Amino acid sequence: MSEEQLFRPNFHFTPKSGWMNDPNGMFYYKDYYHLYYQHYPDDNVWGPMHWGHATSSDLVTWKEQPIALYPDELGYIFSGSAVVDHDNTSGFGKNGIPPIIAMFTYHNPKKAEAKKTDVETQGIAYSLDEGLTWTKYDRNPVIKNPGARDFRDPKVSWDAEHKQWNMVLAAGQETYFYSSANLKDWELLSTFGEGIGNHDGVWECPDLFPLKVQDTDETKWVHLVSINPGGPNGGSATQYFIGDFDGKKFMVDENFKDEMQKKHDFWADFGKDNYAGVTWSNISTSDGAKLFIGWMSNWQYANEVPTETWRSAMTVPRELRLVKSDGIYRLVFRPTDEIIGHRGKKHKEGGVTVNEETKLVDSETIDLSRAELIFDISDIEDGGFNFKLTNSGGDELSFGYNGNDKNFYVDRSKSGKIDFSKNFANTIITAPRISKATSLSGRILLDKTSIELFYDDGLNVMTEIFFPNAPFETLSIQSDDDKLKLKHVEIHELKFN
Ligand code: FRU
Repeated sequence: MSEEQLFRPNFHFTPKSGWMNDPNGMFYYKDYYHLYYQHYPDDNVWGPMHWGHATSSDLVTWKEQPIALYPDELGYIFSGSAVVDHDNTSGFGKNGIPPIIAMFTYHNPKKAEAKKTDVETQGIAYSLDEGLTWTKYDRNPVIKNPGARDFRDPKVSWDAEHKQWNMVLAAGQETYFYSSANLKDWELLSTFGEGIGNHDGVWECPDLFPLKVQDTDETKWVHLVSINPGGPNGGSATQYFIGDFDGKKFMVDENFKDEMQKKHDFWADFGKDNYAGVTWSNISTSDGAKLFIGWMSNWQYANEVPTETWRSAMTVPRELRLVKSDGIYRLVFRPTDEIIGHRGKKHKEGGVTVNEETKLVDSETIDLSRAELIFDISDIEDGGFNFKLTNSGGDELSFGYNGNDKNFYVDRSKSGKIDFSKNFANTIITAPRISKATSLSGRILLDKTSIELFYDDGLNVMTEIFFPNAPFETLSIQSDDDKLKLKHVEIHELKFN
């Protein structure tokens, strides 16, 4: 089987060829979702960064577009964001066409090589043809380097409450908040991060937005901050903070802060392969949820994974909501309806008592390289369960829940190709269960080379990639607890044309 057949995902975005990392500049406009991304078209490893571009009308089928932004004399084009400037506050609009404004980081490779501090500055570009082609502003950079290392990844958004453009970027191990009236002149308002959150690595790719707390009239502000290294299972991951933003300063909610100080389990994803994720601008779902996507890899091994034509995929787009659980604000994630609405064949088992290894399904019934598994356990007590994906070549991916230590886990130590990096499968990936409910539910998305686990309605998420030598063919479940009962199991093949 060719590398393409074996590893190219069925329903996750990958570039046709070349290197990809962070999602950038996502916005929605005139029925299209735009996704830009850190891209090096000339090789399958990280290099001089461009913004690649893809568009979709359904968040499932992506059409790759011409490269949107090329490096220039100010530097490589690092991560950033884009907004629709409906009122033409920037003045770049013409003939009533609102401009799309992208804001990104210029990374100067010469200064980086010379170990200078002022390597990174912020620039903007505008598009008058719905994001297809871009003109860089002739007065770039719009924000000079203030003497800060790792000063990057501006995320712009319209702040309807304070009637200003907000922008947050990462600087070292902090985030800086700015505002602007015209997207060209930016004022530094405040900084955030000292003494709170994880500081085991560099802060990158932040986001800031208000979000309604589900089933209430309360609104809180969500601050996403990616960090590398420092992730809960090593390498890169995305932490979050919940609080208030008064138009100048972000203040973390007191209960949230206490809880985080006791135990930092505020991660958008506990798995190893969801990094630099941010949200789409100019759209939310009918109940106000934000749309999020992340880069499905980890800086520990992204440059070494065994694909050759291309490197890296994005996660599925996810809906992000805010809930209050045991008095603490938390984010919950679920795959968008666009993905899980693509159901084909269905296999259903009601009330399985799990003990010995029980085969649930094989590839004759459902193609396990594009499937959704849903299950429900009404009483988990101290029980645990283990799912296993296998192929006839002996590769195996196991994942499940350990009732003794109340951890979810994924073990990819036998999942196929693993020795391209010592950090890929050297440990079992775990996530402390957040919910205290006696019932436990799961929704699992399987693609050829990834698994995305959403437990307890998205309170615990784990995303992992893997590279089996042949497609996984069977799915089974087992438990050492002979009383463990799955109230309901349902497996769907996902059908994409
Ligand atoms: C995060 C990151 C960003 C930077 C980009 C460079 O993965 O390091 O901070 O802008 O990648 O490609």
